[in-house]
Amino acid sequence: MSKDLKLATIAVYSLKGGVGKTTFAVNLAWAAAKRSSRRTLLWDLDPQAAATWMLSANMKGRDEAQAIFSKDVDIESLIRPSTIEGIDLIAADTSLRGLDRLFFELGKKKRLAKLTESLAKKYDRIILDCPPGLTETSEQVLRAADIVIVPVIPSPLSQRALGEVARYLVQNDGSHAPILPVYSMVDRRRKLHRETLEQNKNWPVIPMASAVEQMSARRKPIGEFAGSVPAAKQFNFLWQAIEKRLAKR
Ligand SMILES: Nc1ncnc2c1ncn2[C@@H]1O[C@H](COP(=O)(O)OP(=O)(O)O)[C@@H](O)[C@H]1O
Ligand SMILES: [Mg+2]
Repeated sequence: MSKDLKLATIAVYSLKGGVGKTTFAVNLAWAAAKRSSRRTLLWDLDPQAAATWMLSANMKGRDEAQAIFSKDVDIESLIRPSTIEGIDLIAADTSLRGLDRLFFELGKKKRLAKLTESLAKKYDRIILDCPPGLTETSEQVLRAADIVIVPVIPSPLSQRALGEVARYLVQNDGSHAPILPVYSMVDRRRKLHRETLEQNKNWPVIPMASAVEQMSARRKPIGEFAGSVPAAKQFNFLWQAIEKRLAKR
C-alpha cells in the first residue's frame, strides 16, 4: 500500500483562543473531502462545539462526547454524517469540559491516538478541532497528530505562544509531529501584519475576509458558497501543502 493511502491525523491547535482554529478545521475538512476525495472525519474536541454547530443540522445535547474516552463506548456509534457530503463528524458537547480531568485520571497518554488509529480502515484524514491551552487534552492531541497546524495572527504575542508550544514539544517528546504555523486573519493594510509576515515568508497565509466571517451565519465551509474568493483559494493551497508534507512521512 502506498504511504499516501495511510490514515493521517491533522490537528488544528493553538495555545490561544479566537485565532482561527475552528475556521481552519472546517475548511481543511472540506478541502480534504471535496478537493482530495479523502474519506474525512472532523472530530470536535472543544466543549464550545463551534465546528459541531457549523456542520450539524440539529444539535442533540446528549452530553455523550466524553464517553468515548472513558467507557467501553464503540467510537463508531458516535460518528454521524455532517451536513457536508464526504465529511463525518464526532460532535462536541459540554461533557468535554471534564476531558482534561478524565485524561489525567485515566493515565493513558495515548488514549486519543489509539482511538484515531482504530479508525484507519474507515478514514483517510481525521481533522481534530482543539480547545485552546496546553492541557491534558492538548497533550493527547499532540501525540495523536501526524501534523499540527497552528494558526498565528500576525503579532509578537502570537509568535511567542507558538514558540512556547514548540519548546514544550521538544522538552516533553523529542519525536513530536511536525508543526506547520500558518498566518491567520491577515490584513495587509496593517503595517504590523506586513512586517510580521516579512519575518516568515514561507509560512502559508490566510487573509482576513468577510466570506470567512459569513461561515458561521451560513453554517458552511467557505468552499460551499464562496469558493472563488482569495481566502477560499488560500485554504485549498494550505490543504495541498499539508498533503505534500504528509506524503513525506
Ligand atoms: N480569515 C478570517 N477572516 C475573517 N474572520 C475570521 C477569519 N478567521 C476567523 N475569523 C473569525 O474569527 C473568530 C474566531 O475564529 P475561530 O475559528 O472560531 O477561532 P478559534 O477556533 O481559534 O477560537 C470567528 O468569529 C471567525 O469567524
Ligand atoms: Mg474553536
